[in-house]
Amino acid sequence: MSESVATTTDITAVGRRTSAIQLVRLRKTFQASVGDRAVVAVDDVDLEIGQGEFFSLLGPSGSGKTTVLRMIAGFELPTGGAVLLDGVDVTQRAPYDRDVNTVFQDYALFPHMTVQRNVEYGLKVKGVGKAERRRRAGEMLESVRLGGFGTRKPTEMSGGQRQRVALARALVNQPKVLLLDEPLGALDLKLREEMQGELKAIQHDVGITFIFVTHDQGEALSMSSRVAVFNNGRIEQVGTPRDIYERPTTPFVANFVGTSNVLSASLSLRLLGVGAPHTLRPERIRVIEPSTILGDDEVSADGRIDDTQYLGAESRVRVRLDDGTVLIASVGSDGLDMVAIGDPVRLAWPRRAPTAVAESAPPVDLDPDRPPAPPNPSVQRPSSQQGENQ
Ligand SMILES: Nc1ncnc2c1ncn2[C@@H]1O[C@H](COP(=O)(O)OP(=O)(O)O)[C@@H](O)[C@H]1O
Ligand SMILES: [Mg+2]
Repeated sequence: MSESVATTTDITAVGRRTSAIQLVRLRKTFQASVGDRAVVAVDDVDLEIGQGEFFSLLGPSGSGKTTVLRMIAGFELPTGGAVLLDGVDVTQRAPYDRDVNTVFQDYALFPHMTVQRNVEYGLKVKGVGKAERRRRAGEMLESVRLGGFGTRKPTEMSGGQRQRVALARALVNQPKVLLLDEPLGALDLKLREEMQGELKAIQHDVGITFIFVTHDQGEALSMSSRVAVFNNGRIEQVGTPRDIYERPTTPFVANFVGTSNVLSASLSLRLLGVGAPHTLRPERIRVIEPSTILGDDEVSADGRIDDTQYLGAESRVRVRLDDGTVLIASVGSDGLDMVAIGDPVRLAWPRRAPTAVAESAPPVDLDPDRPPAPPNPSVQRPSSQQGENQ
């Protein structure tokens, strides 16, 4: 690889601050085993995570989340850039020489050992004495609500309980940072929701920085202090769950985190007087009779009902506007009684509800020595963009 690791001067300049973790232009390319095409898994990621944060890396499968986590843990060496823990450059250090622990999706518990011995294991490796080990493992099992389960084997426990054993085993080493890679992925929905609450409470109790990888936006929004949204090896947006949901800065974020409508630049110009693409959440849109008078601060567009979808707590209607744009609006559970497919309707929303968005970052999947490929048609773009060169 021709890329160089960031210079020492760059790193020390950033390292004076006291973030728990800093990623400085972190990059990872993989040479595919078949063919000679390099995959850019992580594309110059810059990120700072504060002490005690519950920070989520959110993105679709293949967007680079696990690779970032593995570089923080030291299981993967970056192609370029640096990883700093507590301001110290650990990029070249072995995993055991970093103050981090990882909880894997499959828990990786030792099946032949009791729960107590599983949790004690890391302390034993570090040479902590037997009595001290027993005490600390016992305390940790209490704090993950598994006091009294120490003598069981992992096979005698439910998925959620095993997940908490894995958590206790990682936390007992008192790492500065705990890395969690889709740890709830193997659980069914109900248990997953319960564990979301528990994980957040446990993190609050122990005060350790958590970095949590997930492709589930609900999970990321419900637990995190902040979220980084990944797409094609890059971060599209970093912010609080509210920022990400209410003020997405790219169409990709708007669509990946919840459902959103994208108003093209030309439609935005016509409706809002601003010639840039905007996103608009379905729940901000009112579905009303075409003749309804609007509120002072409302914007509207007329169209016809294209389709309806019953979703339980809420329902959705698809409306095709006169210019062909399709918008989705949420209506209350009985809202579907008022409309039928083909009905003319008016959609109205507060003037300030739409959020201006920039284009999503284009994907990078190229060896630097190769000629540029044509644009990837699978990238999500607003339906009509003013020009290709912005
Ligand atoms: N060991 C590897 N060898 C080759 N390609 C890899 C390897 N690990 C990951 N990748 C590729 O890197 C990209 C990012 O993968 P990953 O970090 O696992 O994504 P995520 O965790 O977001 O699903 C994907 O295109 C994946 O196929
Ligand atoms: Mg992954």
